[in-house]
Order: sequence, then structure tokens, then C-alpha cells
Amino acid sequence: MPPENSDKELSVAAIRDGTVIDHIQNEATFKVADILNLDTGEEVVLVGMNLPGSKAGRKGLIKIDGRELTLEEVNKIALIAPRATVNIIKGYRVVEKRKVQLPEQVEGIVRCINPNCVTNKQSVTTRFDVLESSPPSLRCVYCERTVSGADIILK
Ligand SMILES: Nc1ncnc2c1ncn2[C@@H]1O[C@H](COP(=O)(O)OP(=O)(O)OP(=O)(O)O)[C@@H](O)[C@H]1O
Ligand SMILES: [Mg+2]
Ligand SMILES: [Zn+2]
Repeated sequence: MPPENSDKELSVAAIRDGTVIDHIQNEATFKVADILNLDTGEEVVLVGMNLPGSKAGRKGLIKIDGRELTLEEVNKIALIAPRATVNIIKGYRVVEKRKVQLPEQVEGIVRCINPNCVTNKQSVTTRFDVLESSPPSLRCVYCERTVSGADIILK
């Protein structure tokens, strides 16, 4: 049985088993949806934005029924929404809550913006050292170019 509705948000959007990505920076909400390719899947998805509740003002939130995220997906979310939390829902309850977190190195998911970088000339997998996680700042291990903000382009 679903728990009693504790607020309006939950009353319209309770899922039994799945994932809730919460505390997304409002502007990043649709980018997160994009990364997860939610438009091509079959899961029921609820996307909310301009929701109150974050200390930093309005927030975005995405609920995905029947799906857990891969580590690569969580790493990508950490790059564009570093304050997001990932809640695993089982039996209508939050059974696990994690803040997204970047590893020390990010491999294969970000493009280097230096056109002369070897990763743009040959088929070399990109690799960046994570200098800062929130907001994210990365340095290419091949050409040492540092990228942050809008320069972080996901492959
Ligand atoms: N069964 C469910 N279906 C859909 N969403 C859910 C369900 N249970 C919880 N949520 C949502 O998951 C998020 C985390 O739930 P939780 O109960 O931990 O809230 P919280 O205490 O406000 O967490 P936080 O401190 O991370 O903001 C909330 O946005 C909540 O509405
Ligand atoms: Mg909350
Ligand atoms: Zn580079």
C-alpha cells in the first residue's frame, strides 16, 4: 500500500520502485532529462521544475518509475547538477539517498574543447582530472586545458 500522502507533490507522483532525482538546479532540469534519454525509454517519467524547497530557490525534480541509474549516468548528472540527490525508491519508500558525486577522474563522458587535443585528433578516450566538484572544474590529462561551466560539453 502507498504511504499516506504527506504533501501535494507526493500525492500526484508516488512511484513504487524507481529513482527520484531531487534538488536539481532549476535550469539544469531538462539537461538531466536529456542525459538519461528519458524520451526513448518506456518508463513512466515525471519532470517537475520551478518547485519550491531548495535553499537556493526553486528546484527541479525527476521521478522515473522502474529504473535505477548507472554510475556513468550519476557522474554525468554530477557534472551539470552538482547539488542533486539521487533517491532510490522501493515499496514506495526512500531506501537510499545519495548526493551525486564526481570521481577523481572523469573518463569518456566529456569532450575536450581544445581542437588540437589528441582526443579530438585520434580515437583516444577523453580523461579529465576533477579539480573542483561544485561547481565542477576539470582538467584534460592530455592537453591540460581546464574546463568549467558552459565549457563542459558532454559527449
Ligand atoms: N514513493 C515515492 N514516489 C515518488 N517520489 C517519492 C516517493 N517517496 C519520496 N519521494 C520523493 O523523493 C524525494 C526524497 O524523499 P524524502 O522523503 O527523503 O524527502 P526529504 O526528507 O525532503 O529529502 P531531502 O532532505 O533530500 O530533501 C522527495 O522529493 C519526495 O517527494
Ligand atoms: Mg526535501
Ligand atoms: Zn584536451
